[in-house]
Amino acid sequence: MNSKLIAPSMLAADFGNLQRDTEMVNNSDADWFHIDVMDGHFVPNISYGFPIIEAIKKYATKPLDVHLMIEKPERYIEKFAKVGADIITVHYESTVHLHRTLSQIEDAGCKAGIVLNLTTPVSVLEDILPKCYMVLLMSINPGFGGQKFENITYNRIKKLRKMIDDQGLNTRIEVDGGVTDKNIKQLVEAGADAFVAGSHVFKSDNPTETIKELKALANS
Ligand code: DX5
Ligand code: ZN
Repeated sequence: MNSKLIAPSMLAADFGNLQRDTEMVNNSDADWFHIDVMDGHFVPNISYGFPIIEAIKKYATKPLDVHLMIEKPERYIEKFAKVGADIITVHYESTVHLHRTLSQIEDAGCKAGIVLNLTTPVSVLEDILPKCYMVLLMSINPGFGGQKFENITYNRIKKLRKMIDDQGLNTRIEVDGGVTDKNIKQLVEAGADAFVAGSHVFKSDNPTETIKELKALANS
C-alpha cells in the first residue's frame, strides 16, 4: 500500500501571511499543498486564481495539488500548469469530454485526477480509472472550508478501493472536506491514502504539530 499523504488546504491559510504559511507547510510533515480554485459558477463561492498560486509556488518546496472547482476546466489547464500545478484534478461534473481533459493535463506535464461530488456514484469512473493518477472524493459539498464530514464517504471509499484493486491499479484515493484527527484513521481503514485538511490544520494552535499528528495517525 502507498504511504499516506497529508495535503493542507491553503484555502484556510492567512493570505496576509502567505509566505509564512507556505513555509510552515514546507517545514512540516505535509506532503502536498492543496490548492482550491473556485469560480462562483461550479460552486457558490470564489476563492483565488493564478496570482495566488504563483505566490505560493514561489516559496513552496512540495508539489501543488490543484483542485479545480470551475466549469469547463479545459479552458485553463495550460495556464494552471504554467503557474506551477504538479497535480491537477477536475470534477467529473464539470467537463463533458473527461478523457480529453485528462490528456490535456498530462500533455501539460502534470499528473491528472478526477474529483467526484458527494453523491456522484463512484461507478462512473470504471472506464477512465486507468488514466487517473488519483481520484479525489469530496466528503462535503464543495465550495467552503470548515464543513462537517459526511459519513457516506466511508462506503464510497471502500467501493472505489475495490474497483482500483480489481483493475490492478495503483490509483490514489484522496479525501477532501472535514478531515480531522477523529476520522483520519477510519478513512485509512476504508482505503483512502491522501488527505486534505484545511480548517483542522490552520485553525489549530500549532499547525505544524497538527500536521505531524495527522501524518502519524494516517501511517500508524
Ligand atoms: C472545499 C475544498 C476543501 C476545503 C477543505 O470545497 O475543496 O479543500 O478547503 O476544508 P476543510 O478541511 O476545512 O473541510
Ligand atoms: Zn479541495
